[in-house]
Amino acid sequence: MNQRHLYSTFPNSWFGVASSEDLLPRGVIPLHYFGKDFVLFRDEEGIPHILDAHCPHLGAHLGYGGRIEGETIRCPYHGWLWNVDGQCVKVPYASKLPSKVQIQSWPVREVNGLILMYYHAQGEPPHWEIPDLPESIWETWTPLRLVHRWKVRTNILHYLENSVDLAHLSNVHTQTFKAAKTDGVEMNGSIFINRMSQKYNLSSLAAGMFMSDPDGSVTTTYYGPGYDVSFYSIQTKMNLNLGLLTIFTGTPIDEEYLDIHIFFSVKKVLPQPFMQVLIAMARQDVARTFEQDIPILEHKVSLSHPLIYEGDGPLQQCWRWVSQFYSEQPALTNATVQQ
Ligand code: FES
Ligand SMILES: [Fe+2]
Repeated sequence: MNQRHLYSTFPNSWFGVASSEDLLPRGVIPLHYFGKDFVLFRDEEGIPHILDAHCPHLGAHLGYGGRIEGETIRCPYHGWLWNVDGQCVKVPYASKLPSKVQIQSWPVREVNGLILMYYHAQGEPPHWEIPDLPESIWETWTPLRLVHRWKVRTNILHYLENSVDLAHLSNVHTQTFKAAKTDGVEMNGSIFINRMSQKYNLSSLAAGMFMSDPDGSVTTTYYGPGYDVSFYSIQTKMNLNLGLLTIFTGTPIDEEYLDIHIFFSVKKVLPQPFMQVLIAMARQDVARTFEQDIPILEHKVSLSHPLIYEGDGPLQQCWRWVSQFYSEQPALTNATVQQ
């Protein structure tokens, strides 16, 4: 039977929930992800935290009017104070604290300009981390910038599958790719690495600038299903080695929608005025390429018997790898491989 989504639950992994710049000092932001409500806040030390949204007293949402006091958040309704672990530390009009009541707190990290939360269906702690990009990179690359943020009616599995799907590149992203081939994948626990070689099209960013069809390669490292880092290396006929770095994050909002952030940076290979042009073009190219996938993602289904052909890319490896992140294991897709 075909179904819109292969899994009906959410994977256990790190997920991007906000840009660092959106969470001001002592800022409070309501969040809705994984079909639940949360409150994200930055304490007076500048450290971000996430709690379940609703105050156990009478159910007010802490994200709408909650105030930061030191390392606590004050409920907007009756002013109870909750610490970052979700324990009540003060009831302003009573001397007794509620016992055995706690708001669930969630693991949070701030990495590469993004606030990440670890979601686990059973509330288990993370056993792996998403690394910072090496400091040294910022000497030779432009600062990471948000390309855009999209709300897409899709599921994380379709989104992941699309990013390792080779055959769609020269069909959907015709303006950018002429051809692509796989250079292999590596799987190591929560990490999946996909390497590809690509031939870019004349109308694409790099080719447009240098009037040639450049060759390129890309290595994408997935840290769990919700966060990936890609390094593109594009060799132009003028012997200029262009570099593009993208970070994609996809976070389930609920069973229907995914919140997608894309960040990018380019290698500083040209004098300043040209770099501004290169940055603008890279941003446009990355956004356009992703937007071409949206109508496909919003309407595709998961087939119970997909036909996998040689040249499709490492779809099956990707499905196998991603299954480790789910608490509930459905029957894996029964793909028929055609050579
Ligand atoms: S609802 Fe939060 S203090 Fe009353
Ligand atoms: Fe795509």
